[in-house]
Amino acid sequence: MEIKGLIAAGGKGTRLRPITHTQNKHLIPIANKPMLFYPIETLVNAGIKTIGIVVPPESEREVRNVVGNGSKWGVKIKYILQPYPGGLAHVIYVAKDFLGKSKFVFHLGDNIFKSGIEKPLKKFLDSNANGLVTILKHEENWRMGVPYFDKKGRLVDLKEKPENPPHKYCIPGIYFSDHHILECFKGRDRIKPSARGELEIPDAFKYLLLRKYSVETCEIDGWWKDPGQMKDLIEVNRMILDEFDGRIIEGTIDKKSEIVGDVKIERGTKVVNSRIRGPVVIGEDCIVKNSFIGPYTSIYHKSKVLNAEIENSVILKSAEIEGVRGRIGDSLIGNFALVSEGKNGLPRVHNLLVGDNSIVDLL
Ligand code: TTP
Repeated sequence: MEIKGLIAAGGKGTRLRPITHTQNKHLIPIANKPMLFYPIETLVNAGIKTIGIVVPPESEREVRNVVGNGSKWGVKIKYILQPYPGGLAHVIYVAKDFLGKSKFVFHLGDNIFKSGIEKPLKKFLDSNANGLVTILKHEENWRMGVPYFDKKGRLVDLKEKPENPPHKYCIPGIYFSDHHILECFKGRDRIKPSARGELEIPDAFKYLLLRKYSVETCEIDGWWKDPGQMKDLIEVNRMILDEFDGRIIEGTIDKKSEIVGDVKIERGTKVVNSRIRGPVVIGEDCIVKNSFIGPYTSIYHKSKVLNAEIENSVILKSAEIEGVRGRIGDSLIGNFALVSEGKNGLPRVHNLLVGDNSIVDLL
């Protein structure tokens, strides 16, 4: 039977507010590609042909418009509504009809696995286990799901955010299971919402263990990142740009401008009297004038950077940055945001319109 893919693209996105007040977190571009495309491509590269994406009702249309029906990747994509953010196990619950009796890979929509998932997928299929969780070492594993092993190294328990984990292993956001996991939602001993009101994924796998179903583990190679908060998003953007090798110039660059290193500039974009030092990607129909765009910066479509310096930052769609004297660094600037400084510099009054949950760090 075909193995299906399931991607969680709901949740609250509180750590990326205010951007997530108006946009589904999974559509935020990283290196100018929507975050959600990374898990989709990971599943596609592993040979999965049918993918269900779980979305909140309010952003179904937005996600569907960007992702489509899967034809971009030659696969089938279906959308499944999660009426409220009930937790990661709840994502599996709402997808039960889509999953049917199939084995499946469950990928969190805000996780990126550098080396793909072929290794754990192969182990899951070869071992014929009922479930498999991946593991890797992480300094702050107490913030995540943690596996517990017996003396022979077999998985015996899983806990969400435990206080004193006995080792550094955590469970990142990719899980493999067959249909038996759906039993954890039925009957008197079904899993219950945790103290934070969510059906937790470790509880679903623990249920399998308690029912004597087999759950394997597999250590992940390569880096893994969860860009669920600003500092991690900037870092993932940097890591992905670091792998970009080449020069693609589809826009126009005037003679006074200088381009150094790996740089992609998409069509319709104009670069005037500016210095761009890669790795940098600049989307379509942007204007960069009298400015410096430094390494590890991604600028999305229709943005303007005029008389400003930026590095190590992610700029979303239609943002405008104008006449800022200090260099902007390590920043995430939202869609249609306007960042500027008083025209003549004097008097030095900060004139701000700052939305809910914004972070403004003035010198
Ligand atoms: P989290 O990062 O744990 O939660 P979140 O996205 O709501 O963000 P925050 O903590 O900032 O509020 O979620 C992990 C992934 O699972 C993420 O891709 C969102 C998704 N998710 C769902 O699809 N449904 C849910 O009910 C939950 C809790 C998360």
